[in-house]
Amino acid sequence: MPLKQHLFLIGPMGAGKSTIGRSLSDDLNCNLVDLDRVIEDRAGASITWIFDIEGESGFRERESLALEHVVGDESTIIATGGGCVLLAENRNVLKRSGLVVYLAASIDQQLERTSKDKNRPLLQTENPSQVLSKMAIERNPLYESVADLVVDTNTKPPKLIIQEIMNFLQDPN
Ligand code: S3P
Repeated sequence: MPLKQHLFLIGPMGAGKSTIGRSLSDDLNCNLVDLDRVIEDRAGASITWIFDIEGESGFRERESLALEHVVGDESTIIATGGGCVLLAENRNVLKRSGLVVYLAASIDQQLERTSKDKNRPLLQTENPSQVLSKMAIERNPLYESVADLVVDTNTKPPKLIIQEIMNFLQDPN
């Protein structure tokens, strides 16, 4: 099924955006663009380096520019970073450039999926659970505000999540 518009995957760190994105890209036979990788490619540096040298604000600027850049390309699946919804300008880009699927995940689920990962600077702290909880309070309403579809990833196997998204794509309205 060719995509008529971009399909954005949004949601917090560890919600499975990249994993679900990869399966969807196989099933739909279209590219997956991982916004974090685009940011790194354009910067010629890792996310960790960008946060170290430029801080979160520098990263957010690069994230907005990368988002603007990728929506100009042909319709595809775009997995965004967890903080992509923070800026109103990004939320507007998401809303006007395609369909937005919010992969929702509990804090426990996120912790389990991110615990061994050293490449998420915001979680390199004593208490990642507290950081994720604070983020959820701020960000969950923002994810919801732009989502065309919300999928609870906590209890469903990836296959079911994919099926739910495929069904939605058949009939988005
Ligand atoms: C971030 C999430 C990360 C990455 C960066 C900041 C966030 O992406 O963009 O470390 O603010 O939640 P993932 O959601 O793909 O881990």
